[in-house]
Amino acid sequence: MRRLDQTLANLGYCSRREARDWLRAGRVRVAGEIADDPGQRVAAAAVTVDGEPLDHPEGLLLLFHKPAGLVCSHEAREGPSVYDALPERWRRRNPAVTSIGRLDKETTGLLLLTDLPDLVHRLTSPKHKVPKVYRAMLDSPVPGEAAERFAAGTLVLPGEESPCAPAVLEVLGPRETRLTLTEGRYHQVRRMFADLGATVVALHRESFGSLTLAGVEPGAWRVLPPGTFSA
Ligand code: URA
Repeated sequence: MRRLDQTLANLGYCSRREARDWLRAGRVRVAGEIADDPGQRVAAAAVTVDGEPLDHPEGLLLLFHKPAGLVCSHEAREGPSVYDALPERWRRRNPAVTSIGRLDKETTGLLLLTDLPDLVHRLTSPKHKVPKVYRAMLDSPVPGEAAERFAAGTLVLPGEESPCAPAVLEVLGPRETRLTLTEGRYHQVRRMFADLGATVVALHRESFGSLTLAGVEPGAWRVLPPGTFSA
């Protein structure tokens, strides 16, 4: 259990100093009783502010439909970010809401965001082999040998030592493909096609494991239960 003022600060409500004012104003209750001690140890689920339960006290897990033009970075100098799309209070949470893996600035599609650091570590670990499905549009006809080369599990990307895990390529049209990866290396899809001399001109992630973007418009999100990936 955490201090009450820390609980409010970690969930992005206010600073610890402001929490004292909120308590004095009678805005905060614990188990229904007006709270007056900012150092009181509390279960976040028992706290209300202005009569409302706290916002996702058990952690946030979001399925975000990333539009093009947003970076997966907390560095303001890198330009508009996926985090700018979220409500202010979520952006102030500690631990910070962060992406589970990254999509390039111009890549669209399914991106998971969470403030649960253990989940980030688990789902980005090389041991976690969840299939991620991408639609990739190329600048030129799909090379004839692409599917075989990607499936072989022998493709070593420049600057790397271990080959990419076998990946499944479906050819959807003369320049359009669907590629299923079970890992998430830096710019992996673009670099795999570059190895064959093709440039990816549009990239979209359709799914992550069994999760899809169904019903989630670009720039919008769906809140998932934090236990979605529990064994
Ligand atoms: N592979 C890429 O090249 N870019 C992405 O954004 C995701 C996978």
